[in-house]
Amino acid sequence: MILIDGKKVAAELRAELKEEVAELKSKHNKVPGLTVILIGDLTPSQIYVRNKEKSANEVGLKSEVIQYPDSVEEKTVLEKIQELNSDETVSGILVQLPLPNHIDKQKVIEAIDPSKDVDGFHPMNVGNLSSGYESSIPCTPLGCYLLIKKFEPNLSGKKAVVVGRSNLNGKPMTQLLLKENCTVTITHSKTKDLKAECLEADIIVAAVGIPELVRGDWVKKDAIVIDVGINKTDKGIVGDVHFDEVSKNAKALTPVPGGVGPMTIACLLKNTIDCFKRSQI
Ligand code: GUN
Repeated sequence: MILIDGKKVAAELRAELKEEVAELKSKHNKVPGLTVILIGDLTPSQIYVRNKEKSANEVGLKSEVIQYPDSVEEKTVLEKIQELNSDETVSGILVQLPLPNHIDKQKVIEAIDPSKDVDGFHPMNVGNLSSGYESSIPCTPLGCYLLIKKFEPNLSGKKAVVVGRSNLNGKPMTQLLLKENCTVTITHSKTKDLKAECLEADIIVAAVGIPELVRGDWVKKDAIVIDVGINKTDKGIVGDVHFDEVSKNAKALTPVPGGVGPMTIACLLKNTIDCFKRSQI
């Protein structure tokens, strides 16, 4: 079994992006800017945002974090997004999810100018991705896609099973695999026989948030398995894939941590740079 080293691939991608930022700086005399809005004091969100800011600075982006307390009014956030939409130094805007209950997530997502939507969550980008047009692509599925492509450049005709149908991961993942001419099955909590579906797969992407759901006997011998899960358990952080069992069967597997996670942040930087480049045309 080959361990797909997301940490290494992400470091390589960041090094390429760093060079690209330096070239853009000498060409345009400015650098792409990423602004992250963080609402409330959820610890995981704070850690993610800190890591995003650190990585953005490392590759030479202009990075800013705007923090609001849990009690902030929706109107204040929407007004700030409008201000950032018209700020030329801001190439990308990300509002860290989840949001407090009194703030309408969809309203916030739709307030972001689609050309600055580095998450790829705006309906315009979702539609463009599903139509096969140029768009921002959500960072986690983009990271999974790059890892799969690195390991197996020709995906045409492969059977892919995506476990989970979220807007963040499952649905955009499906679109990316379809674009590569995979035959894609999207599975979810109402799927009748998940094990049988997975046993058909050349590629499995597990993104459901259920600890160690995908077992060793669910996986074909030559399957590539991508684990998007980050689940806190008594044993510590585990993925959606039973690592010990699946590593005995699969051809290749991403670890948790050190698989998809580092790619997500690197892809956010890539999306910010891509938004900047499109704005300079
Ligand atoms: N919270 C967890 N993952 C994400 C993500 O990819 N984007 C945003 N905005 N919030 C998140």
